[in-house]
Amino acid sequence: MRILVTGGAGFIGSHLVRRLLADPRHQVVNLDALRYSGNLENLADVAGHPRYTFVHGDICDAATVEQVLKEQGIEAVVNAAAETHVDRSILDPHSFAKTDVVGTAVLLEASRKAKVERYLQVSTDEVYGSVETGMSTEEDPLIPRSPYAASKAGGDLLVRSYWTTYRFPVLITRGSNTYGPHQYPEKFIPLCVTNAIDDQPLPIYGDGRYRRDWLSVHDHCSAIEHVLLNGRPGTVYNVGGGNERENIAVAEMILEQLGKPTSLIRFVEDRPGHDRRYAVDCSRLRALGWAPTVPFEEGLRATVDWYRTHEGWWRKIKSGEFRAYYERMYGKRLREGVTG
Ligand code: DAU
Repeated sequence: MRILVTGGAGFIGSHLVRRLLADPRHQVVNLDALRYSGNLENLADVAGHPRYTFVHGDICDAATVEQVLKEQGIEAVVNAAAETHVDRSILDPHSFAKTDVVGTAVLLEASRKAKVERYLQVSTDEVYGSVETGMSTEEDPLIPRSPYAASKAGGDLLVRSYWTTYRFPVLITRGSNTYGPHQYPEKFIPLCVTNAIDDQPLPIYGDGRYRRDWLSVHDHCSAIEHVLLNGRPGTVYNVGGGNERENIAVAEMILEQLGKPTSLIRFVEDRPGHDRRYAVDCSRLRALGWAPTVPFEEGLRATVDWYRTHEGWWRKIKSGEFRAYYERMYGKRLREGVTG
């Protein structure tokens, strides 16, 4: 299949591109705008691969998208392009609405017109909102609470509407918190790991007892591929790792692995509107034949080791634009602290 992966230079996208290339039946085209978290270094190992093509462009740009679909003879699309960080969406909600809603609308319509055979939207478990108890099923209402989650929900609903209205063969995956190598260090796990390596404080929002279900990027990408190849058109699939942990417990595991003291933990002012917990029921995807394979302890260990052995990758990021972001997001918080 000739597959277009958008956002293929990002964290999940780059793992997905590599995974799809491992199957000799696939040709992969990567369309990426290369904004702050898109990084072609993530794909340096496959840059010259005979079945791989990179195109620099934005999913919001209809002319570019239409041209790629046509010229590359694309048969399937995986939309992994997104603005993804909740904290940034609180600072700049507009760019999230643009990429995650408008960008999805542009890509979806161009894909429909190009008669693409399968369109998969990489969505998120955050569209369900905070789940205090129990698990979200795919039929639950979407009650997103951050500008990021609301933008993703907008894209997700647009995609679903294309099945209802046009019978355009869409698929949606709603994945949980993903972790692994090459994740931009604004996210909780890489932020904690890289700060700990440098003996810098680990900023823990609120009481640190917020819960997330951690999913290895390898399992997330195997789920996306499985749904792309086997999913029923018009269907949503939850993807979770089955590894629910409190944030504070994750921070402690990281410190322990790096041999760093728990005194690096710093409770700071909470994220506004912070969702307490996400949890997804994945029985639909399991019935389709997928299951996660990476135990959290193992996946986290491998991830910490990767950051330990790839300092060049993240130091370059942390010394650039990231510094201003970090100061804006954490400077005052870390100076003031709170009691956890
Ligand atoms: O659930 C899937 C979602 O997971 C994805 O759709 C999002 O793109 C992804 O960013 C992630 O959202 P979260 O907000 O859960 O991830 P984040 O890594 O920002 O935070 C994880 C938890 O850690 C959350 O409860 C907030 C907390 N946290 C985060 C940061 C960055 C802290 O306590 N301190 C921090 O400095």
